[in-house]
Amino acid sequence: MRNWVLRDEQPADVEAIATLTTAAFAGRPYSSGTEAAIVDALRAADALTISLVAADAEDGVIGHVAFSPATIGGDASGWFALGPVSVDPQCQGEGIGTALVTAGLERLRNAGAKGCILLGAAAYYRRFGFEHDLSVTLEGLPPGHLMVQWFGAERATGEARFHPAFGV
Ligand SMILES: CC(C)(COP(=O)(O)OP(=O)(O)OC[C@H]1O[C@@H](n2cnc3c(N)ncnc32)[C@H](O)[C@@H]1OP(=O)(O)O)[C@@H](O)C(=O)NCCC(=O)NCCS
Repeated sequence: MRNWVLRDEQPADVEAIATLTTAAFAGRPYSSGTEAAIVDALRAADALTISLVAADAEDGVIGHVAFSPATIGGDASGWFALGPVSVDPQCQGEGIGTALVTAGLERLRNAGAKGCILLGAAAYYRRFGFEHDLSVTLEGLPPGHLMVQWFGAERATGEARFHPAFGV
């Protein structure tokens, strides 16, 4: 049985997070190849609102999830984006990704966030409460790709934007 805990990233984790992210996305057809650089760019821009790692007593950092500020329809207050999320290929399918995403979403909600967007596999993210919402669009993509989770009654409509760091 693996012995791991969830915790906030520490300065000493930075390199391990980049290595892990590169390994997790390697060879994935949907990967831009820039996911590790995105995490670094978010950190450099002070836009890593939440950066959680799953740390194993023996193997070190085996999972990571990032959350960063986003805008919807020009509104920047309370909207966030999930991703990238990475689990060491040797440790996938053990619930680590679920724990990272669930803990991050709970943290956002508790901090008063209004909602969260992401681009990812619907089959995976539906379990966390994300859905396609045609009233929120993303430039360059047909409607129905972006997933949204509204935390409360408040909604926003229009074009969603990830932090500019996603453009690295
Ligand atoms: C996606 C990822 C973070 C999930 O982490 P994990 O620790 O393996 O996930 P968990 O063990 O919590 O959950 C496993 C479940 O997720 C499902 N799953 C994993 N990746 C999936 C995907 N791309 N599409 C659909 N389902 C997926 C598994 O089939 C499994 O389903 P089950 O619970 O019905 O058996 C991990 O597989 C990973 O790092 N992948 C490569 C990078 C990546 O794709 N990141 C997300 C970009 S959208």
